[in-house]
Amino acid sequence: MSKDFLSVSDLVASASEKEILHGVSFEVSEGEIAVLLGMNGAGKSTVASAIMGDPRFKVSGKVKFLGKDVLKMPVFERARLGIFLSFQSPIEVPGVTTTEMIRSVKEETKCGFVSLDEVRGGITESAKKLGTNIWFAERDLNVGFSGGEKKKNEILQMLSLRPKLVILDEIDSGLDIDAGARISKVLEEYQKESGCSYLIVTHNMRVLKHLKPSKAILVDDGRVIAVKDGTLVKQVEKKGYKAVLEEIQKEVA
Ligand SMILES: Nc1ncnc2c1ncn2[C@@H]1O[C@H](COP(=O)(O)OP(=O)(O)OP(=O)(O)O)[C@@H](O)[C@H]1O
Ligand SMILES: [Mg+2]
Repeated sequence: MSKDFLSVSDLVASASEKEILHGVSFEVSEGEIAVLLGMNGAGKSTVASAIMGDPRFKVSGKVKFLGKDVLKMPVFERARLGIFLSFQSPIEVPGVTTTEMIRSVKEETKCGFVSLDEVRGGITESAKKLGTNIWFAERDLNVGFSGGEKKKNEILQMLSLRPKLVILDEIDSGLDIDAGARISKVLEEYQKESGCSYLIVTHNMRVLKHLKPSKAILVDDGRVIAVKDGTLVKQVEKKGYKAVLEEIQKEVA
């Protein structure tokens, strides 16, 4: 397990003149399953977006991925290096199908021609794993999709693009119980087969059914409060954020 995989140091992010992240630091190793925990508004999605390069945020600090400082790179270069972000609220893109979008990202990241047949072959295989209809991929991206369908479509894209670092921002919100369990299994299989790392943001933990996180990063008000092992996830589930944050405050006092 290489340690020089993802390292976030002193990450500051602002939007609309408001500082949201006040110096966030943590690491994720190669093949590691890490969970980013925190209350609503703590800054989890902002961390995810800043790593991916969302232009809405003004950022400073350092985000090193595979030895490269990615903070000044455009989104497509980060994707080319193998970073993938599944959005908390996937956007609708009229006029572009999922198949076309996957093809263009593949061409961008591989720097060359990719045939539609190749893309459709991959999509058929992934759709089988997810239990979805392949015709969703021929519809305009996310347009008119239900909440759960949008989330499944994110995983379909992930499986097609084969990233090394997968950031999942509430992938389980909107999924029914069966779909949540199935996606957890699909994520487990992809991790075993590819050796990828996960940085998972979640509120309902169902997505972790088949995944064993070895690291939990707890953020509050734009700061990392604690980096612990996976047992912190269970503690939060049992006691809630307020109690866990108070306990940690007492530990450090
Ligand atoms: N573009 C923006 N402009 C202004 N404020 C923003 C912007 N994006 C995020 N924020 C604010 O930054 C804070 C952190 O937001 P963020 O979406 O990162 O929280 P979160 O931890 O993902 O919460 P949740 O669990 O509810 O998804 C919130 O107070 C939010 O309103
Ligand atoms: Mg969020």
